[in-house]
Amino acid sequence: MSTVRTAVLPVAGWGTRFLPATKAVPKEMLPIADKPCLAYVVAEAVLAGIDTMVLVTARGKTSMEDYFDRSPALEMALEQAGKRELLADVIALTRHATVVSVRQQEQRGLGHAVLMAAPVVGTDDFAVLLPDDIVDGRSWDPDGAVTGEDPALGQLLRVHADVGGVVVALKEVPREDTRRYGICAGSWLTPTQMQVERMVEKPKPEDAPSTFSIVGRYVLPGSIFALLREQAPGAIGEIQLTDALAVYAARGEAQGVVFRGAHFDTGNPVGLLDAQLHFAMRHPVYGDAARAVVAKHAR
Ligand code: G1P
Repeated sequence: MSTVRTAVLPVAGWGTRFLPATKAVPKEMLPIADKPCLAYVVAEAVLAGIDTMVLVTARGKTSMEDYFDRSPALEMALEQAGKRELLADVIALTRHATVVSVRQQEQRGLGHAVLMAAPVVGTDDFAVLLPDDIVDGRSWDPDGAVTGEDPALGQLLRVHADVGGVVVALKEVPREDTRRYGICAGSWLTPTQMQVERMVEKPKPEDAPSTFSIVGRYVLPGSIFALLREQAPGAIGEIQLTDALAVYAARGEAQGVVFRGAHFDTGNPVGLLDAQLHFAMRHPVYGDAARAVVAKHAR
């Protein structure tokens, strides 16, 4: 059983690939079926045993904090309208976890964003989830009924409970895409667990040491904050989380896990659409109607 209870969610970005929508709505609040992107990532963390979420946020993005707070006016309106199920849903989502927020006042990279959570996290091991990466950990039988759920973060936490150190989620990508990700190389301990020896942020395809990319799920030791504080900017002039992780990899203290689950990169409009179709078509209430809409467009 994992002892990790705190997760850091870097959510300070501008969401430039979704402008103009993100001029007034945080990217993380764009909907997938009936919930914002951020809710899927928080639900995954809660299912993996996390009880405290640290949002590393920025000016103009307070709707994320409001989402996880009680709303007396809305609750009263739902009560008066007799919408009891909706009311229960709206209250329940505020009770799953404690949501704390800190601000990243300058956008200096992912490593810098994670460092902003240091005063809340302290010295404990913690998780990081990047909300652009959404993973559906459910499995289904051939008739479409859900048979189980194994959140990606939970898969990492099981490895972490065994060996400690750094654990990252891995996914194989086409070689031409290595320049978009952190890339890991090392030796395979099992068909899905890599002892990571090298990590490089956004290498050119010809320089990439492998084609296994980091997906935005990490378990990290509290000692990483000391490294991040001292770290110089790396790829694209930013303080990169991957550069700090590479120090653990070189010491033999980093594992990579090829996780099970349907992964979506919602950081661009087509990736978000892919996730929206996936979740809408499997929605317990309007899955059938969503499939009919998709079939109409496929004609
Ligand atoms: C970040 C990390 C990268 C990782 C990616 C996963 O990059 O720096 O190592 O592979 O997230 O989504 P970004 O997407 O912020 O460019």
